[in-house]
Amino acid sequence: MTPRRRLLVGAAGRRASSASQQLDSVCVARLEAMRTAGTLKVEKELLGAQGAKVSLAGVESSVVNLCANNYLGLCDDAEVVEAAGTTLASRGLGNASVRFICGTSDVHKDLERKLSEFHGTEDAVLFPSCFDANAALFEALFGKEDFVASDALNHASIIDGLRLCKARKAVFPHAAVDEARVKLVEAKDARLRAVVTDGVFSMDGDVARLEDLRKAADDCDALLVVDDCHGTGVVGPTGRGTPELAGVKPDILTSTLGKALGGASGGYVASSRAVVSVLKNAGRPYLFSNALAPPLAAAALKALDKVTPSLVTKLRENTHRFRDGMLRAGFAVAGHRDHPIAPVVLGDAHRAKQLADSLFGAHPVPALGRPHR
Ligand SMILES: Cc1ncc(COP(=O)(O)O)c(C=O)c1O
Repeated sequence: MTPRRRLLVGAAGRRASSASQQLDSVCVARLEAMRTAGTLKVEKELLGAQGAKVSLAGVESSVVNLCANNYLGLCDDAEVVEAAGTTLASRGLGNASVRFICGTSDVHKDLERKLSEFHGTEDAVLFPSCFDANAALFEALFGKEDFVASDALNHASIIDGLRLCKARKAVFPHAAVDEARVKLVEAKDARLRAVVTDGVFSMDGDVARLEDLRKAADDCDALLVVDDCHGTGVVGPTGRGTPELAGVKPDILTSTLGKALGGASGGYVASSRAVVSVLKNAGRPYLFSNALAPPLAAAALKALDKVTPSLVTKLRENTHRFRDGMLRAGFAVAGHRDHPIAPVVLGDAHRAKQLADSLFGAHPVPALGRPHR
């Protein structure tokens, strides 16, 4: 059966109201359009732990995985997994509640303390994911009397977070600090002004110009907000991320536990005590969604112990080795030289997919399609 036929049979093969049939046919048409454009995503099933090599359903030999954000290899680190297991045994799966009702555990508090020490901030607050952290942040802190300037290539969670917030907003072209500065100057009547950027841009592997953004923000008496999901544990001599790399301090940092710090899930905001308190009192994903599972918080606590200069240096050496090898082989590789997001740019989605599919045959390596923003 062709994929199109399978989709149509799936849509028609059950009894449904005409509205739901119509919805299905709209969905099927949309999926077909994605298939035609070569952007339809098909998920591969992992049969074991995430790692440098993984087993996939339907693929005979193991596969070299260059797509995961498992930057420090901690997803299956024995001590990190053991920390989660011990807490699972002592605290159970979770607290079956949001934090402020009866869902805060000592492990949450320990992790928040450790994250704020790690980033050198007064305090930190956990969220179920960094997507939630970004969804909470802007709406809780900035109102209609405020202004936020956002890099055009910021992560979808920042875009959505800003959509939820009533502040005036402006988008400046990617990395165009001068244009960000102009927007901040134009908004001089705002109560609070902020500029927000990814620390590392996840599709292109380039690093934000934090030094310049910090200066622009300071000159305008504005705040600097950095989403460092791909910087935390990855860049800077001790893995403190893009602020360490640039030698600056953002006013607010958001990041994830779902990449270098063990790869499970969870996000956080690190900032002043006052900002964190407001997020705990007014951040909607914090107030209306279950707390991060304590075993995952325990895993992240252990993962933080493992972010050592020697492991970060090893990651950098591996990154250079991969980048240099690909360049020698004649490929164009984008991104910051020190960052392991090393996009091999072919410039054509179909060619990229064909190459990726062919790699599954000879030397299995999965490739990543660029998601829509
Ligand atoms: C820059 C950036 N921000 C936020 C997120 C969301 O992180 P999480 O998976 O913790 O929701 C991601 C994840 O892809 C990201 O790359």
